[in-house]
Amino acid sequence: MKMATEAFANYSLAGKTAVVTGAAGGIGSAITERLGALGATVVLADAVDRVTDAAREWADKGLKARGIKFDVTDSKAVENAAARLNEEFGAIDILVANAGIAYESTTKDHSDEDWDRVMKINLNGVFYCVRSFGKRMVERQRGAIVAISSIAGVKAVRPELHSGYDVSKAAVAHLCRVVGVEWAPFNVRVNAVGPGYTETEMLKKVGMAQPEVMKVWLDDIPTKRLLQPSEIAATIGFLVSDAASGITGQLVMTDHGYSAA
Ligand SMILES: NC(=O)c1ccc[n+]([C@@H]2O[C@H](COP(=O)([O-])OP(=O)(O)OC[C@H]3O[C@@H](n4cnc5c(N)ncnc54)[C@H](O)[C@@H]3O)[C@@H](O)[C@H]2O)c1
Repeated sequence: MKMATEAFANYSLAGKTAVVTGAAGGIGSAITERLGALGATVVLADAVDRVTDAAREWADKGLKARGIKFDVTDSKAVENAAARLNEEFGAIDILVANAGIAYESTTKDHSDEDWDRVMKINLNGVFYCVRSFGKRMVERQRGAIVAISSIAGVKAVRPELHSGYDVSKAAVAHLCRVVGVEWAPFNVRVNAVGPGYTETEMLKKVGMAQPEVMKVWLDDIPTKRLLQPSEIAATIGFLVSDAASGITGQLVMTDHGYSAA
């Protein structure tokens, strides 16, 4: 049926090229898989060497994937990567700024080093990527960007404590709000996604292995279960597609209702 074909085509990423930062991690892998399955060529970017192997493994499974190593805190490296990849692929249509770190610290014991590190990676890193990849989208008047915020950016999560992380994630959502409005006339959409507690290596570091922490989380999550990375990736696959052409400057929570409860 023609109508159905056109509706499905709106969700397709065929012919588009996407850059995903933090692609060697848990949510980044799921984003790679989803965007690749929707037809995009995916450039996996990460600060770790294994990103090239990860890209090869996805390519072996049939995705159009290629790896690149850069650190999102190095603004020159980000700019060079954006220039090089735009040249190599003709255009980068999609950016998913997903790289991030988490840690635990009470505010009274919070070190300057931890504060600076989390802001550099979680906020500066997102800004550098949005600026370098986004300005080229603005020139072409076409593109879609998603950055990863968190439930920790909209409410005081518990029992784990990391005020620097929380502020960095609130700032990412606001960055997407203001840049989304700034670039709306240029047909470049910028949104944030706010994951809830998602089963990855990062979550292990902040309490997944501790039954008393898990109990508090599960009590507070309306579905009584952790999210899977594929659930975050599904939101992102939609947001970067033409099916989401009406959505920009938004924070889209994907958290099993945690932030609404
Ligand atoms: N897991 C959760 O419960 C959860 C919840 C809310 C938000 N998030 C956010 O989702 C994103 C992905 O998290 P994850 O759970 O997949 O974590 P993860 O630790 O599995 O993956 C993070 C990836 O980012 C990469 N990275 C870190 N610093 C980098 C840098 N300077 N430059 C380039 N790459 C860098 C790491 O090498 C890693 O591959 C993060 O921004 C995180 O804050 C996660």
